[in-house]
Amino acid sequence: MTPLSSFPANFVWGAATSAYQTEGAVDADGRGESIWDRFCAASGSIKDGTSGAVACDFYGKHRQDVDLMRSLGLDAFRFSVSWPRVLPAGRGPVNARGLDFYDRLVDELLAAGIEPYVNLFHWDLPQPLQDGGGWPLRSTAEAFVEYAAAVGERLGDRVGHWITHNEPACASWLGYGLGIHAPAHRSTSEALAAAHHLLLSHGWAVGELRRHAPRAEVGIVIDSWPVYPWTDSPEDVAAASLADGTMNRWFFDALFRGEYPADMLEHFGREVPAIERGDLAVIATPLDFVGANNYSRRFVRASPDGGAPLDVRAPSGELTAMGWEIYPAGIREVLTRLHREYGIRSLFVAENGAAFGDVRTHDGAIHDLERIRYLDAYLAEVAAAMADGVPVRGYFVWSLLDNFEWAEGYSKRFGLVFVDYPTLERIPKDSFYWYRDLIARTRGVTLAA
Ligand code: FCB
Repeated sequence: MTPLSSFPANFVWGAATSAYQTEGAVDADGRGESIWDRFCAASGSIKDGTSGAVACDFYGKHRQDVDLMRSLGLDAFRFSVSWPRVLPAGRGPVNARGLDFYDRLVDELLAAGIEPYVNLFHWDLPQPLQDGGGWPLRSTAEAFVEYAAAVGERLGDRVGHWITHNEPACASWLGYGLGIHAPAHRSTSEALAAAHHLLLSHGWAVGELRRHAPRAEVGIVIDSWPVYPWTDSPEDVAAASLADGTMNRWFFDALFRGEYPADMLEHFGREVPAIERGDLAVIATPLDFVGANNYSRRFVRASPDGGAPLDVRAPSGELTAMGWEIYPAGIREVLTRLHREYGIRSLFVAENGAAFGDVRTHDGAIHDLERIRYLDAYLAEVAAAMADGVPVRGYFVWSLLDNFEWAEGYSKRFGLVFVDYPTLERIPKDSFYWYRDLIARTRGVTLAA
């Protein structure tokens, strides 16, 4: 059981979503094309052949969803802005109607007493920028600053928490290195160049956001899965260090120490992109907070042919519907590492949650006991980290709603709220009521039996 007393009264209880996964309305009000529209249209990209064209229609149903958030008792809602709605060509003319949507959403949230945590980039790059070369190019980082300025100018008077990027490691490696996400390239040098420009654009955007919202807090969201060697052989230990170096240390060292890890620079050698003088100082601009996403851990072993480390399925333990091992201690490891090794003094869990095969039963409800158990176990580890002195200020469940789970399509449900896709009806799951009661109890509200 989550020890409720561990969470102070000002602990921020939230839920998270992202634009492409929930909004739908891809042709509404002058929105441009994103790399995810293009990627989904290519056959074989998405497991169930779907796309985010309709998703949850959050674009049309946001008022209803803010009501749900209010009844959940959320302090904060983390969402992302769709770059192609704001700048349909990626840069150049601003589409005021695209910004109007977020303007209304922010006002509705504030009226409901919910603090918006606005994330600028959750993977839906405007297609015209990809046509010009995408994140491997420095000019895409420059375009991002124009976009940050447009959003900051419109919402900076009301939004107190800004996030530049979500999971730059996934955006660069899944999109440009491993071909799993849009734009589905498979190139180590492109992935490294994309990572560098994502990070550089982050540093530049921090300055831009602070100019438009001087009193706001600005941060970034990184993902981290602890990496374990499959055996304690020197080869497997080296493979784990390489996997950790690629997905974790590369990003943490740049953001929080202003350098790329020496062993990884040596490992990638000539694949490392040109890094201009001053870039790393920009990337390491001090932040007001860091958001960490954690779901699971990885086991890796050395590849017999000397190639990239190989992932191995967890030896024991339960898996979620994603095939991800349920490993609650991992969230504590990640938070502790960021605090102890990287000196982060203001942390949020920006995403944590699980997909299970939820079904609506004869009583019309969704009895998602596995999700409740998962969240409860992970929150207990967040509390344990806090008891050890790790400064965690808040926690966001992924996700408020079932939504479009990228290459998995709609087959994986992460929501506290079930979405019946044919009708778009929202049905709170048992985990919704559990989270609502947990939030109320940490505020000292006594609940009726
Ligand atoms: C994270 C993503 C988020 C969602 C969850 C399950 O990596 O940031 O959009 O897909 O995983």
